[in-house]
Amino acid sequence: MKIIFDTDPGIDDAMALLYLSKLPEIELLGITTVVGNADIDTTTRNALFLKQQFGLEAPVVRGAGKTLDGVEKAEPVIVHGLNGLGDIALPAVDESGLAPGEASQFIIDTLRAHPGEVTIVAVGRMTNLALALRAAPEVAGLARQVIIMGGAFGYRGRSGNITPAAEANIHGDPVAADEIFAADWPVVAVGLDVTHDIVLDTDYLAALARDAGENGELLRQMCDHYARFYKEIMGLSGLVGHDLLAVTYALFPDWFETRRGPVLVVRDGIAVGQTIQMPETRKGGHPAWAGRPSQAICTGVEAARVLAHFREVT
Ligand code: BDR
Ligand code: CA
Repeated sequence: MKIIFDTDPGIDDAMALLYLSKLPEIELLGITTVVGNADIDTTTRNALFLKQQFGLEAPVVRGAGKTLDGVEKAEPVIVHGLNGLGDIALPAVDESGLAPGEASQFIIDTLRAHPGEVTIVAVGRMTNLALALRAAPEVAGLARQVIIMGGAFGYRGRSGNITPAAEANIHGDPVAADEIFAADWPVVAVGLDVTHDIVLDTDYLAALARDAGENGELLRQMCDHYARFYKEIMGLSGLVGHDLLAVTYALFPDWFETRRGPVLVVRDGIAVGQTIQMPETRKGGHPAWAGRPSQAICTGVEAARVLAHFREVT
């Protein structure tokens, strides 16, 4: 399976990349970066570090440092630390892993080069994808699938994480996210409705550190910071593997339940970043969603299988 991984590393982004590096069925074509968990220089540096650390051959391509509206803001450092990877010490990175050019053009070129074959797994803000669509709208018809980690649809009584209405990746660039859902390509949203089922507790992380060698220990160290955030702010006894789950969807869609229907993103106001699906089953619909394609939202997942598989392959 050919994959472009669009990311803002990010601790759970790092887990997802480790996962991708261990899956022989995945052909990783590129790692495109975006501002989010840290500024674009930092997320790009982190992607280069992770590529090197996990032995990935795919190029890193630098992407958007601002939202579509030109706002240059990263998320609060409280979640992923100042360096985006839990403030662990990082070595100098090999800049030769950075491909020339910029992420949205890379996405366009790659979709054109492999029509109907490429799955985009986007686990940061959707800015690079939206820029690609704005520059070359026809590439929507070339993607096999777009799996995003993003959104909080309220299906399991779960609200947002940046505000009660909004999840971080959507809130960070709501206009971009709205354009992604409105485009005519098959989107699957792996949002907080399901990612909060994937809790990696202390025992799980200790076992990972014990069994998964140097990289398992590296993840455990990064996670100290992240787990503190989840404990102190969210009241959880472990941390949530959001981005990991988007990769799982690419591999095992049958482990998920989904609901179909068009999706709108609130673009401004107090609920900015809220994701609202009009279920296909709703008779009559509503004009606000009219003309938008039906997209799939994950509403359930076999969490134990997900956690077991990540352990097994890493
Ligand atoms: C998302 O926001 C980021 O902090 C994580 O990496 C994940 O992609 C969760 O809301
Ligand atoms: Ca992320």
